[in-house]
Amino acid sequence: MRITATTQAPAETGADTIAVGIFEGEGIPHDATTGSAGGARGEPLGALLEAGEAKAKHRHVAVAHAEGRRWVLVGLGDRDAFDGERARSAAAAVHGRAKELSSRVLCWEVPHKVDDSVVEGLVQGSVLSAYRFDRFRGSRNDEDAAGVEELVLSAHHDVGAVVERAAIVAAAQNAARDLQNRPANDLTPTALGEAAREMAADLDGLEVAVRGRDWLAEQRMGAFLSVAQGSDQEPALIELRYNGAADGPVLGLVGKAVTFDSGGISIKPASPMWNMKFDMSGGAAVVAAIGAIARLRLPVRIVGVVGATENLPSGHAIKPGDIVTARSGTTIEVNNTDAEGRLVLADCLTWAIEQGAERLVDLATLTGGVVTALGGVYAGFMANDDAWAEAVLAASGASGELVWRLPLHELYAEQVKGTYADLQNASADRTAHPIQGAQFLARFTGDVPWAHIDIAGVSDNLSRAYLTKGGTGFGVRLLVELARAHG
Ligand code: BES
Ligand code: MN
Ligand code: ZN
Repeated sequence: MRITATTQAPAETGADTIAVGIFEGEGIPHDATTGSAGGARGEPLGALLEAGEAKAKHRHVAVAHAEGRRWVLVGLGDRDAFDGERARSAAAAVHGRAKELSSRVLCWEVPHKVDDSVVEGLVQGSVLSAYRFDRFRGSRNDEDAAGVEELVLSAHHDVGAVVERAAIVAAAQNAARDLQNRPANDLTPTALGEAAREMAADLDGLEVAVRGRDWLAEQRMGAFLSVAQGSDQEPALIELRYNGAADGPVLGLVGKAVTFDSGGISIKPASPMWNMKFDMSGGAAVVAAIGAIARLRLPVRIVGVVGATENLPSGHAIKPGDIVTARSGTTIEVNNTDAEGRLVLADCLTWAIEQGAERLVDLATLTGGVVTALGGVYAGFMANDDAWAEAVLAASGASGELVWRLPLHELYAEQVKGTYADLQNASADRTAHPIQGAQFLARFTGDVPWAHIDIAGVSDNLSRAYLTKGGTGFGVRLLVELARAHG
């Protein structure tokens, strides 16, 4: 989808379909009824609203034909409540109808007196709802494939920069979804490293290094390696470095990328184990977000560390009770081979700090407990520093990617203390799993301000109208916002 901005009136853009929003109590916006072509089209649009076919109710859609093109009237609800998130879902409703109408060029008349986040939302909602994953479909429906080819945002003032930025971020989110949706036999750790390399090839200031099993062993990353040892696939520690500034605190972004989590010897039930191809979602978000940050040329310094491996049972897999030594020197009893994410992340966090990270965020599909607690609406979030937590919350608010803070109280640290080693990766006490996970990770972050986002509930099938089944790319928008505020 090509995306452009214009200060021309919608009817002058050559679009075959024009989207017009209606706020409660405001009627059809003035521009849509008059414009340079005169008042003629005001009648059919106004009549639709009077007849009750068009409504101001958020996401309600009605279609009129006037002046040889289609007018999609969409309800935006209460003006005061209309924000980026509501714009994303309204835009998705419009895009869905435009697609049914076989529209090719869709022009959104940007409502008057809205801020940039709404313009951003209209672009993102359109791009995100247009997403399809058809890489593995034998027969493609050509008509379906065409869809909306061009999206034009028409506003009185120049929204070009906002539109461009929103389009870059939404494309990155869709790129993360592509990585997520690829099955584990296709997206191996090596393939994820390759994808990161390819992404970086045409971006200035971004370097990618991919290291395998031998390097992990040389670096004594015994925690990460203990997960990888059960698999014949080469693991990958993917390091991304973006230098968009000469100074300022280095932001460390760490992602869990278990390309398939069977649970290992502590094996998971057969159903729905297939969803465990999504256990690389944190890593996908980190890779795609850094791509967007580089494309936007944000004035920040970033180090990204993504730990990619499979977690499989085999004759050389780690066994419950085995003790391993992390790069930091901390010893860990692996009581449950299914609590593998924290083992991978432990060494990745240590590495990120060694590489200069002065603020940390990790994204991981870490626990089933967070799915039970927060479902597909909020991600769980824990932090060791209140100011940094506020920064993450602000980025969450600005991006519409919701996170809910859980308490990282000292008392929970008891549960990660080992019986025969410094730590244990799982306790017999099956309570507060998301916090136990975070307490474990906290043993590897020193005193660097750090936030952990448990995205297990929101990485696939997130409850948002503008997303379809499968990978959601959750975290990309939040991380980009965090980097923007950081610069
Ligand atoms: N990848 C899973 C967490 C998960 C569960 C993600 C459901 C998405 C949906 C993780 O590796 C895991 O298995 N966690 C265990 C930890 C436990 C053994 C301490 C869990 O949450 O059950
Ligand atoms: Mn697991
Ligand atoms: Zn996992």
